[in-house]
This record gives sequence, structure tokens and C-alpha cells, in this order.
Amino acid sequence: MFYEPKGNDHGLPHDPFKSCVIPRPIGWISTLSSDGIPNLAPYSQFQNLTFDPPYVMFAANQTTDGRRKDTVVNAEQSGEFVYNMATYDLREAVNLSAQQVPPEVDEFELAGVTKAPSKLVKAHRVAESPVHFECLYYQTLRLPGNSRMSTVDIVIGKVIGIHIKDEFIASDGKLNVLKIRPIARLGYYDYTIVESIFEMIIPGPDEKLRSGMEGAR
Ligand SMILES: Cc1cc2nc3c(=O)[nH]c(=O)nc-3n(C[C@H](O)[C@H](O)[C@H](O)COP(=O)(O)O)c2cc1C
Repeated sequence: MFYEPKGNDHGLPHDPFKSCVIPRPIGWISTLSSDGIPNLAPYSQFQNLTFDPPYVMFAANQTTDGRRKDTVVNAEQSGEFVYNMATYDLREAVNLSAQQVPPEVDEFELAGVTKAPSKLVKAHRVAESPVHFECLYYQTLRLPGNSRMSTVDIVIGKVIGIHIKDEFIASDGKLNVLKIRPIARLGYYDYTIVESIFEMIIPGPDEKLRSGMEGAR
């Protein structure tokens, strides 16, 4: 099949677009409002952008009534945000924190997770999450949408602090991803869990390229 997203005439009962870019990591983003209210929400339009220094981004569409999402407002006003890794054990809390509630609601309480202080930023970390990035807000790029809700704010942040729980670092010094069991978004209401890993090494003489992939020092 072929279709142009402009008309969205794919002829299927559900829009297939989001199922064609999978799996998407979930940036579980915590922020503080200007009134000091902790906010927490998942964003699967999330990615790392580069690594030296590391930058990450999340892309927030507008609320159903056309407003910027609280995470965007807070990141811009406070100049910071925290990425928490979403895992299978935390899946229900991730889902609960996706509810669209007024900015006065403490979404850590809504999701039933514990606040842990950060070291370099004021926004809290989700204590139960195995990995956190403390981020400084860098820039927002706004892409126009075809409807009020589909306009998107791409928020970029520079990672200035990284927490990894020791219990999730394996004896070979690599992250024990199979123990962490991160979850990722597919399309529809579907998710996946990282439950298997295979290794491939780029062939050829470029040792620098290879060690860059492995993250060797
Ligand atoms: C797993 C998951 C991923 C989501 N990813 C996005 C996303 O990438 N962009 C977005 O605008 N909303 C996304 N949402 C919806 C937001 O989490 C939801 O609108 C939330 O209420 C926003 O909260 P906030 O206003 O406190 O930022 C996602 C929801 C779930 C459950």
C-alpha cells in the first residue's frame, strides 16, 4: 500500500504512522512548576540527540484544548527537567502520570511514586526508576500542525548529571538492560519490553568507529 499523510487516506481502521517508527523509548519527564508543584509525564516522542556533551529531546503536542503541555511550560520557565527511565515494573505509574490534570496536581502523588532530590537541578527524580538524567533546558522548536492539538513543541535539554543505580550495572561494567527491563511505545495502545539482546560489530579497519559504538573510553 501507499498513501500520502496529507490526506491520511490509508484505508485502515487505525492510523498506521506511529506503528512504523518503533520501538520508541519513553522519556518519563519530571519538572517543577513556577509554584513549586512537581510534575511528571511520559513522552514517547523522545530521543538522545548526541553524546558529547549529551543532549536529549522530547516532543510535546498541545493539550486537547490547544494549550502547551505543563512539562513544556515548566521546562521553559524553570530552565530544567529530569529524564527518568520507564521500566516494566513502573508501567502502571507511567500510565497514571499521563493523565491530563491541572498544573496544581502533584503528579508524583498521582502516579504513586517517590520523589528523590536531584543533585544539580531542582526538579525531583522518580526514586523507583533505575536511571535519571538531570537536564538544563536548551531550546524549544515549534513545528506547526494541521490542527491545534498536532502543533508540537520539541524541547531540547543538555544532560548535566547522570544517575544509574549500582544494582543495574553488571560485572562487565555495562548496564544490565535485561534486569532493568525498559519499556517502549509501539503504535495503538501497545508497548514492548527489552527482553532480548543481540550483538553486531561493524566490520572493517575503522577501530575508532567501532569503539565509539561500544562507548569505550
Ligand atoms: C507512554 C506514553 C507516551 C506519550 N508520549 C507523548 C508524546 O510523545 N507527546 C505528547 O505530547 N504526549 C505524549 N503522551 C501523553 C502525555 O503524557 C499527556 O498528555 C500528559 O498529560 C502530559 O502531561 P503534562 O501536561 O503534565 O506535560 C504520552 C502518553 C503515554 C502514556
